[in-house]
Amino acid sequence: MRKKIIAGNWKMNKTIEEAVELANSIKLDLADCKEVDVVLCPPFTALKSVSDVVSETLIAVGSQNMSSEDEGAYTGEISHTMLKELFVRYVILGHSERRQYYKENDFWVNKKVIKALEKNLRPILCVGETLEEREAGDTEKVVEVQVREGLKDVSADAYTELVVAYEPVWAIGTGKTASAEQAQEVHAFIRGIIKDMVGEEAANAVRIQYGGSMKPANAAELLSQPDIDGGLIGGAALDATSFVSIVKAAL
Ligand code: PGA
Repeated sequence: MRKKIIAGNWKMNKTIEEAVELANSIKLDLADCKEVDVVLCPPFTALKSVSDVVSETLIAVGSQNMSSEDEGAYTGEISHTMLKELFVRYVILGHSERRQYYKENDFWVNKKVIKALEKNLRPILCVGETLEEREAGDTEKVVEVQVREGLKDVSADAYTELVVAYEPVWAIGTGKTASAEQAQEVHAFIRGIIKDMVGEEAANAVRIQYGGSMKPANAAELLSQPDIDGGLIGGAALDATSFVSIVKAAL
């Protein structure tokens, strides 16, 4: 049985003060939540403060990106060592906003996934098609390339640590959600690719989150699908009440 995982991707929102307030509100309800893995991913500037808030709870902290390199002349980047110093456990990698606006590609995303695993950080690898690609009937083709390239050279035993997030780009921040059937279909497809890549045991163990306008109103239905193991939440994660009710829908 895969444990569900709900992660809040706060994106470029929240000052330190606001982040601490949000984390504190979430902590009131979820500090001891054992049944679901809860992860908060604030901007880099608030990682330390949010880590402090959740330090004695079961809530984990994640970052929204990580460099594939160890250290050196990489202006604007952040390394695994720096993140671990702030008690970060998860790293969101290859989010569609990074692919779209900052030209991250599968090659670099794969390097980051490998580095994160090597350094005992848990990658949340994001994949998903654009509206244009879906309408052209290319969803499976696009997602398959992102999964195969993004997880290239990852050993079968690492799949218990990593998380894949299926996030159709057309559903992110748009209020449009994939229907539970549409999402389940792609999740099952992703699990099938992983089975083909590394075998059934790893495919059954890997957790696949859905992301894209998940909110309290649609969370329970999405999370009841057999291959949907959690959610990567953007907009609704900025509000403690909404985020907590999504986590409760996963119980
Ligand atoms: P959204 O974002 O929930 O606001 O659609 C999800 C994400 O981008 O991870």
